[in-house]
Amino acid sequence: MKRILSGMRPTGKLHLGHYVGALENWVAFQNGGEYETFFLIADYHALTTNLDTSQTYQNSIDMLLDWLAVGIDPEKSPIFRQSQIKEHSELFLIFSLLVTTSRLERNPSLKEQVRDLELDTISYAHLGYPVLQAADILLYKGSVVPVGEDQLPHIEITREIARRFNQTYPKPNGEAVFPEPEAKITKFARLVGLDGKAKMSKSLGNAILLSDSPDEVMKKVRTAVTDTAKIRKNDPGNPDVCTVFKYHQRFTKEEEIKQIDADCRSGALGCVECKQRCSASISEFLAPILERRAQLERKPDELRAILCDGEARAKTIATQTMAEVRDAMRLG
Ligand code: TRP
Repeated sequence: MKRILSGMRPTGKLHLGHYVGALENWVAFQNGGEYETFFLIADYHALTTNLDTSQTYQNSIDMLLDWLAVGIDPEKSPIFRQSQIKEHSELFLIFSLLVTTSRLERNPSLKEQVRDLELDTISYAHLGYPVLQAADILLYKGSVVPVGEDQLPHIEITREIARRFNQTYPKPNGEAVFPEPEAKITKFARLVGLDGKAKMSKSLGNAILLSDSPDEVMKKVRTAVTDTAKIRKNDPGNPDVCTVFKYHQRFTKEEEIKQIDADCRSGALGCVECKQRCSASISEFLAPILERRAQLERKPDELRAILCDGEARAKTIATQTMAEVRDAMRLG
């Protein structure tokens, strides 16, 4: 069966943007029966922008909890930490031989990150971020990679590296060792932030977390940007420019959305009530996720065991791939 590999950097609790942009897709692939799915906690990648490791384990557990709470099933999909499987580093080194520094310097995702984080310099490993990502994917021969739009440049580099390896080091029988993986973007690739900015992000402080209680959701939605021309309750509004309406479109039932649209335009519905209804829809969506998270949170040993099991299963495949790599390279 073909394989899917995707991953995220463990930077703490996840938000609705992660769900809409990636996790929903992951769960669908996991349950679709067409692919084997593998999910990676990219803890080494997280170190490229923050050397402090004191929170790495806790952040990984928080992310694991969110994954499990939204429906990632560790029996179907091994979940594993990059740092626990040495083969990631080994393949990273080999792949580093097959890409030029100028190719990596041209990577638009890296340029964006340097700009956003106002970095003066970057480390050698940070420049190599997509090379490590290529190793993550190709170690498991992932042929499909469900990711957010921002990851497309990285997947392109992965494809180039796979091609280069296959040409340089074919198997003894002439076949290619690696597939050329394809990125799969979600339909609703992005969810706007509470402040109306293009993207929900924890560091921008405009995110609703998957672990937010109904009270927290309400407090946050209350701050969301609406149509600024709708000042008084009965002013007619324009849902097309309203952040809250965008959330309604994603989390509220079809018939209710139509009514909200009409009542906002006519002025019958004020923003306060509209926000209350939006919070209720979001919290209704989050309720089963919160419940599962709370159950799992009480079982730290079980969480550790899930990682152990995932890491053992991942390790078996990683070892096989590296044996093929060494064989193709005649490093035996
Ligand atoms: N770069 C990805 C992100 O920031 C995380 C990641 C690491 C990844 N390795 C991966 C994603 C392999 C897909 C496949 O979200």
